[in-house]
Formats: sequence, structure tokens, C-alpha cells
Amino acid sequence: MSNPLSEPGTATLDRHLAEAAERYGTPAYVYATDVITARLAHLRAHLGRWFSISFAVKSNPNPALLGWMRDQVDQLDVSSGGEFALGRQTGWQPGLISFTGPAKREAELRAAISGGVGELVLESLREARLADAIAAELGRVQPVMIRLAPARVPKGFGDQMAGRPSPFGIDVENAPTELPQIATLPNLRIIGLHIYSGTQSLKSEAICENWRIFMQVFSEICVSLDLRPEKLIFGSGLGIPYHPGESKLDLAAIAAGVGPDLDAFLADPRFADTRLVLELGRYLVGPAGWFLARVVSVKQSRGSRIAICDGGLNANLAASGNFGMVLRRNYVIHRVGGDEGGTRPDEPQDISGPLCTSIDKLGSRVLLPRLDEGDLIAIHGCGAYGPTASPLYFISHPLPAEVLLTGEQLCDATPDRGR
Ligand SMILES: Cc1ncc(COP(=O)(O)O)c(C=O)c1O
Repeated sequence: MSNPLSEPGTATLDRHLAEAAERYGTPAYVYATDVITARLAHLRAHLGRWFSISFAVKSNPNPALLGWMRDQVDQLDVSSGGEFALGRQTGWQPGLISFTGPAKREAELRAAISGGVGELVLESLREARLADAIAAELGRVQPVMIRLAPARVPKGFGDQMAGRPSPFGIDVENAPTELPQIATLPNLRIIGLHIYSGTQSLKSEAICENWRIFMQVFSEICVSLDLRPEKLIFGSGLGIPYHPGESKLDLAAIAAGVGPDLDAFLADPRFADTRLVLELGRYLVGPAGWFLARVVSVKQSRGSRIAICDGGLNANLAASGNFGMVLRRNYVIHRVGGDEGGTRPDEPQDISGPLCTSIDKLGSRVLLPRLDEGDLIAIHGCGAYGPTASPLYFISHPLPAEVLLTGEQLCDATPDRGR
């Protein structure tokens, strides 16, 4: 997966980042499609024997990126009516789209069913009944999957969606009473099951163990419903390193650890025609994105040097540590242009954004070449949960530009976000 863009601070990367900032302004996100292509190849090389790939739009709904994704991944998972519309606008066939989400409204269900969505991923009996009624009205039989919430999630995930009280999916304890009721609804056809119970894990053993739990749940439920599923969705949980010192996830270790279990699982005649699908977002796009901010002002304050930038938590909530992080930790950050031939030795500096709140901090005592007014910083690992997971309108600063880098080609991919 070696790519000059994957390494912090290389000359090639900096050339592209500086040009993107120059052309499209800051703050900005740059997404490199070559990095996504390389990550997909790596993923398929290790896990493609068992899985096809579904991209979770919530991780990066940039329209230009979604359009580009059409030729890269097998299907798309959306989590709202808005994302379904976006998938359609960017040229995705509705049959290749699945629709998850714990609180689907009637209008969203109607738009998805009438729009020919591939699969609804049902998260409750209420949703199943509503979808059945809508499908009946439209004279259709809607393919559905059922999302299950396992009783246990191994340790080692950044966020856990099951194994405790959770709004997501049907708890496995309730499956024996609720699933048969869904199975009798005449306008729904159950084609498979779905689990997404933990995300952002860098521990290969935790992922293997979690997928073993999925297989056990899938087997038990398929036997109880006498279901020969067309698809089983494995919510991947594959994480990415965000902070200095974190190691990359070892996909070879995952393949070696859980491969025999997957082979044994698929050897069951019940699953002879079943397609396993990995649903994921950040693993593919996170490391392919950089957040760029320009230093507007520098303040020397009581022993600390603070570089105050034109974009902060308003444009990048995750990098400010306020998106699901318990203790704020710095992301990997570099100064575009480096240390200018050693003339700017590293020193600890704080990096903050333009907002009038002390939580608007992008870095604490980050070791970087001395930052001055006009300098550009790049934060790594920002290709997922960027603009759309940030409070973009807070304090009415300009919205971040979004730029697609394909090969040597930069293009403006800033969507109209309504201002
Ligand atoms: C149902 C579902 N699918 C996919 C994802 C994507 O997760 P990630 O971006 O960590 O791969 C999530 C994340 O929360 C999710 O809840």
C-alpha cells in the first residue's frame, strides 16, 4: 500500500496540498482517490476472498467522491432519505443501495421503496410494519434485511452499538419473538441479516472475535427462520490510526485469524448462495483525506506559542477531539513545506481554530516547525466524518472547500451546502 501520499510531509503530498489551498482557499479538505484505490486493493487482497464491499455514505457523502465510488465498490449503504437521494443524484442504481438507520420516517421509507432501493435494513418491528404497509400500497414486495444487535461486543472498539442498551437493530434476545412476525408480513421478503455492532477498532483479534459472534448469530437466526440468505452484512469495525504512535490495522492477521471460521461458515449448505458483504466507511476514505487550515494569527501566551487558524472545530469537529473522543488527543499534523531545510526546527505549539470557545483546539503542544502567519497546516486522517460531521454554521465562518485529487489532477468538489 506504499504511496507517496500515504506518508506525512512528503514533497509530492505537500505540492498537491499547497496547490489545493492556493486554488480553492482554506479551510479545505483534500481527498486523494489514488489512496482509496490502494486501500481497496489492499482490502480485497486480504479479505476479498470472502467479502464484497459496501461503502457507508455517512463517512463521506461528498457528491464527487460518491460518483467516483460507483466504479470502485460493490454497493452503497445510506442512512437517511437525504443520503438515498444523494446516491441517486450521483448516478448509483437504486438496486445497489441499502438503507440502514434506527429512526426511518414514513416519508423516507416511502421515497426509498418507491425509488427502488435494493434493500431496506429494518431496525425494528415498527419499521417492518410500516414498510410492509407502504410496499402494499405501492403494489410491491420489498427486499429487506434485518439488523440485529448482538448481546456482546468484544473490547477494543472506539464506539459500540450493541452489547448493552442500544437504539440500533433488534436485540438478539427479542429475535425469537419479533423476527417471525416480520417473516409473516406479505409485502416484505427477507433476503438477509445485518450486524454493525462496533466501529474504529485497531485490534485484529477484536475484529476476528466480533465477526465470529456475527457468524454465530447469523447461523442461529437463519436456522430459526429457515432462511437461506442472499446476503449477510458484516459491519466491519475496521479502524484507522488517527494519533501519532498508533499502528495500522493488520488485515493479514484478520484474514489468518478469522479466515478458517469464514470458510467453515460458508461450507454450510445453507450459505451456499450467500454473499458476505463488508460494510465500512472510514477504513477506505479516512486516510485518503487531509484537512488544510491557514494560520491567521500567532500569539505567544504565557510560555506557549499558539497558531490560530482559519478553520477549527466548526469545519472539523473530529480533529478537535469533540466527536466521540473521551480524552482529546492530537491527530497527526504537519506543516506544509516542512522545516525549510532545517531553518525551522521543531518546537511544541498549540493550534486553535477561529471560534470564540476554548474547545476549538486542533492541537496541543504539537511538535512542528515554527508556525508563522500565512503558514499552512495539514491534518491527516480526515477523509471520513469531516464536513458533514461538523457544526459548519457555528459562528458563520466560510464553509470548507472540498477538493478531489485524482492522479496529478485537482478538482473543486465543494458541494453546495446551502450558503
Ligand atoms: C450501520 C453503520 N454502517 C456503517 C458505519 C461506518 O462505520 P466506519 O466508518 O467506522 O467504517 C457505521 C458507523 O457508525 C454504522 O453505524
